Amino acid sequence: MLGDCTDQRAYLHRGGRVMDDEVPLRWGVLGVGYIAPQFARGVSLSRSGTLAGVASRNAGRAAELARAHGAPKHFGSYLELLDDDEIDAVYIALPNHLHVEWTERSALAGKHVLCEKPIALNAAEAAHAAAVARESGVTLMEGFMYRAHPQITEMTRLLSKGEIGNVRVMECSFGGNMRGGDKNYRMQREAGGGALMDLGCYGVSLSRLVAGIGSGASFADPINVTGIARIGQTSGVDEWGVGLLEFESGLISTVTCGNQVDIASVARLWGTEGSITLRNPWQPEIDGRAPELVIEHRGAMESRILPADRPIYALEVDAFAEYVRTGVTRAPVMDLEDSLGNMRVLDDWRRAIGLRFPTEGT
Ligand SMILES: NC(=O)c1ccc[n+]([C@@H]2O[C@H](COP(=O)([O-])OP(=O)(O)OC[C@H]3O[C@@H](n4cnc5c(N)ncnc54)[C@H](OP(=O)(O)O)[C@@H]3O)[C@@H](O)[C@H]2O)c1
Repeated sequence: MLGDCTDQRAYLHRGGRVMDDEVPLRWGVLGVGYIAPQFARGVSLSRSGTLAGVASRNAGRAAELARAHGAPKHFGSYLELLDDDEIDAVYIALPNHLHVEWTERSALAGKHVLCEKPIALNAAEAAHAAAVARESGVTLMEGFMYRAHPQITEMTRLLSKGEIGNVRVMECSFGGNMRGGDKNYRMQREAGGGALMDLGCYGVSLSRLVAGIGSGASFADPINVTGIARIGQTSGVDEWGVGLLEFESGLISTVTCGNQVDIASVARLWGTEGSITLRNPWQPEIDGRAPELVIEHRGAMESRILPADRPIYALEVDAFAEYVRTGVTRAPVMDLEDSLGNMRVLDDWRRAIGLRFPTEGT
């Protein structure tokens, strides 16, 4: 254990790990778009972090977000934030095609990195980001914040004790109608857009988690992946579609997503002894709907409302801080190996629908 607070800061900054909850992790945010303010609020309401700085290509926007959440510093460029010694960890809230570039720059600057999902455009890029983080001695985690919610802990507990037997079939869906939105990165092929990269990735991640629990592991990779999607003529990305995952355990999961159609956010798991429905699996605490698990066991139905004591991004921030401080080999919420496996499924699904990003060649 290191001595005074200054030493601990220096240690954390070098990507070292300390076990002391008294020292808040000082966060910097890259990019001020839709998600950045929600994350900034999460940091302020977390137990472990403090918002130290915000960076935008537009200095005025950075100043505004910093002011709104009490961050002492703001920057008109991302590099300036990375140069600041009083920032320990960086949250990457940029479009998908910039995730690996800024993960790499942040890691090389000695910052721990929480990168928004998907962690990269493909598995090869994700492996590169993981290697850079490892060599730089910093923690890297993908921002699947839904995994930090107590409903996932409860679902895991129920599955582990065999409450619904062997899970054979799953359905995950997530979508929203952007009604066009061609200026949004989600509708741009060069930015790694499309519904699968933005929304389908959640269902893929939950399916892999559930399959893993079924085989006594923290995740499992499917043995078979296929998909179908409608690619927009103007956008060149998948605007709605369905993926199909088959696992060694026998579990078959369908993942439905779309960004030009409203689709209910729900996950259903059917096992040999019952079923579990997650009524608000992906955005608990965000959209005002309480997260609810509906458990059906041999004909008896039970509903459990599982609110958290902090916003979902605060839970994510605290889980990340625990990971940084304890230095366990597997992340408590979303391990890097898990992220790499997720990216491989997204690659397979994209291969099935013929979607390549410009940096991947033809
Ligand atoms: N976990 C979640 O709940 C959740 C929810 C939504 C989104 N996300 C993820 O968060 C990331 C950002 O999504 P968002 O909805 O916040 O996107 P957004 O509103 O478009 O914001 C992205 C920000 O990135 C910066 N940027 C830098 N270079 C850019 C470029 N070439 N084109 C566009 N923007 C650029 C911009 O900030 P400055 O101009 O300020 O530099 C922009 O505001 C995505 O990876 C997405 O998957 C996660």
